[in-house]
Amino acid sequence: MDASLSVAFVVTQFKTHLQHAHAKKLTDRVLLAAVATYGDKEMSVRAHLTLVARGSLFLNEKKGNPVQSSSLCLAALMHDIGKAAVMDNVFGLPRTLSPEEDIIKRKHTVLGGQICQKLGEPFISVAPWVRGHHESWNGSGYPDGLKGETIPHALRFLRLADVIGALRISRRYRAAFSLEESFEILQTMQRNGPVFDPSLMPFVDDLLALTK
Ligand SMILES: [Fe+2]
Ligand SMILES: [Fe+2]
Repeated sequence: MDASLSVAFVVTQFKTHLQHAHAKKLTDRVLLAAVATYGDKEMSVRAHLTLVARGSLFLNEKKGNPVQSSSLCLAALMHDIGKAAVMDNVFGLPRTLSPEEDIIKRKHTVLGGQICQKLGEPFISVAPWVRGHHESWNGSGYPDGLKGETIPHALRFLRLADVIGALRISRRYRAAFSLEESFEILQTMQRNGPVFDPSLMPFVDDLLALTK
């Protein structure tokens, strides 16, 4: 595991992108506590957060920075925080979930948004993005079934970076997918969806290169 894929790296990334006054009030302890709530469960989760942050910021830059980078970075770090509030162990299982388990799993989006609402600023500002990080371009995502151009840019960046950040980390039960395998999986998802904002697909190669 690359030594830079750590909570410390993520915090440094966030601080690098600190811009607005509220964010400056954040202490390392607050952010570390938020990340560590679920990030310490296994190394792969921390690596995942880092990849999502890197990928989202990369896409934002490529698209001309339509989103404030400090907020986007915070949303990337917090996007799966709702998993900490889901009591049932439905994450990271090496099998297809039952319909009941899938409903429980999907709740992490809504719960994550609620957690951010309760944490005050700057978390409140990113609550809608934490809630919406599983929305898909064709409207098949959750929890709100947002579709196409109505999906905020931050959610489009997070969606693609999140999937890449999942494919490219190893889990207890499987190795990371190779660059070629990941590329193929993303293309298949897009053909069957589209899942991602089509205008982001030309950056997939560069995004995958970031995960080497
Ligand atoms: Fe998620
Ligand atoms: Fe994720």
